[in-house]
Amino acid sequence: MTGRTVTSTWWTHSKTVALIWLISAFCFFTLFQMALHNSSQTPSSTSSNSPNPNTERRSQLYDKMGRDLDEHGAAFLKHGETSQSLSLSDIFTLKDGYVTPVLKPANPPVRANVLYLSTEFSVPIAEAVKNIFNPYFDKAIWFQNSSLYHFSMFHASHHIVPVPATTEEIEAEASSVEAVAATFCPLKIVLDRVVLTSTGVLLGCWQVISGTDPITIRAKLKNVLPHAPEKQLYDAAILHTSFARLLGPPKAPSPTEVLKTSDNVQFFHELVDRLNSQFRGFKAVVSELWYVEEYDVLALALNGRMNIRKFKLGCSTE
Ligand SMILES: *[C@@H]1O[C@H](CO)[C@@H](O)[C@H](O)[C@H]1NC(C)=O
Repeated sequence: MTGRTVTSTWWTHSKTVALIWLISAFCFFTLFQMALHNSSQTPSSTSSNSPNPNTERRSQLYDKMGRDLDEHGAAFLKHGETSQSLSLSDIFTLKDGYVTPVLKPANPPVRANVLYLSTEFSVPIAEAVKNIFNPYFDKAIWFQNSSLYHFSMFHASHHIVPVPATTEEIEAEASSVEAVAATFCPLKIVLDRVVLTSTGVLLGCWQVISGTDPITIRAKLKNVLPHAPEKQLYDAAILHTSFARLLGPPKAPSPTEVLKTSDNVQFFHELVDRLNSQFRGFKAVVSELWYVEEYDVLALALNGRMNIRKFKLGCSTE
């Protein structure tokens, strides 16, 4: 045997050993991973009441929103801003004693994807909101049109980061949204709580019982709308509808009556509590996603000009 053959035999042998080790290591690693995966899955699959991280995230968000009024006071009484950074005094005016929205053209139009809450569910809420708030805010309140209750999901273009698009691009966007909406399952939802923000917006905050989670909806919309603004307007988990916007301080409903409290914030809490005691736990089903071109700023909120394309959530739930 020459030195060369010895070396090459040794090499072949070492390679075989190394290969066997590699295969063993791979098998071990795979089995180990499977075991780990199984053990981490067992608890969540056996206990049905384990917390859903999306639900938790929404609860925390709503807790924070619920504290906003106490932490920041009623900022809307001193020229508040909405969640979209628009001053309320910029978007409303008094005309013949009535609150009228000041519609401003959105250039380019805003392109919003929203979930729609049908009137079957919105009308009872809207009536209660009016009954509770109207007596004290005669003209200093704007009610969301109950035919247009919606949950803002994802903007293809908004007024902070406008993304202009041609008619063809808009058609393409709309059909991508339609296709992805067909994969979403209708959402069974429950009103978790009503909050009044320091900016004077009365919001319904909802939890998901079943159906496609808003986090998934937003992620899939982002996928099919690659040119959309990176920074969206809302937290990816939030599921909220705006019911009304307060524009001024409360007043006694009649000259003979006085407000029970001189503290506005305390009084606002009382009104919100009344609404909560009626509607907390109210259930609804959401089965439409709308692709809305808003030709006026906040058109959906202010009855402005818009073009709505309505898509059914197509996934069938048994
Ligand atoms: C509310 O919205 C519906 C549907 O867009 C519309 O027909 C109606 O005129 C609106 N109501 C008001 C008061 O603007």
